[in-house]
Amino acid sequence: MFHRYVIFAAGLTAALFSCNTNTQPRTAEVMPDSIDYSFHIRPILSDKCFACHGPDANKREAGLRLDIADSAYKALQESPDMHALVPGNPRASAVFLRITTEDSSLRMPPPASNMQLSASP
Ligand code: HEC
Repeated sequence: MFHRYVIFAAGLTAALFSCNTNTQPRTAEVMPDSIDYSFHIRPILSDKCFACHGPDANKREAGLRLDIADSAYKALQESPDMHALVPGNPRASAVFLRITTEDSSLRMPPPASNMQLSASP
């Protein structure tokens, strides 16, 4: 299961690290040489997503849990034709689409949460 996260990680990291291209330092300067899920990806999900999509069932939004791989790979409860994460295919992954969208009504984390992703970790 872990290796599937790693395959997905490259795409997700490209998205996370390139969301805000107008801010310094530039993407190329902050992009790590190799991507490690536990070191590079999970801390971002933990800081920016788990408050609403993590272990606490009482705070979980949209029935979506991103801290467990099996849950993150399942069909979405509110959009059953989509999956949060499709390993190796960021453009089929709702997580990628939600963090890169220009539409602030769809963007994750929600703008009102003040938990925006930054260009560098
Ligand atoms: C402050 C709470 C909050 C945070 C933080 C948050 N989300 Fe969400 N998320 C929501 C809510 C509420 C919904 C349901 C409304 C919607 O679909 O926009 C949602 C929906 C989603 C969906 C669609 C689920 C579906 O069934 O269609 C995805 C994918 C998602 N979030 C990913 C993320 C990711 C990735 C992060 C972190 C980068 C994140 N969210 C952070 C509140 C949050």
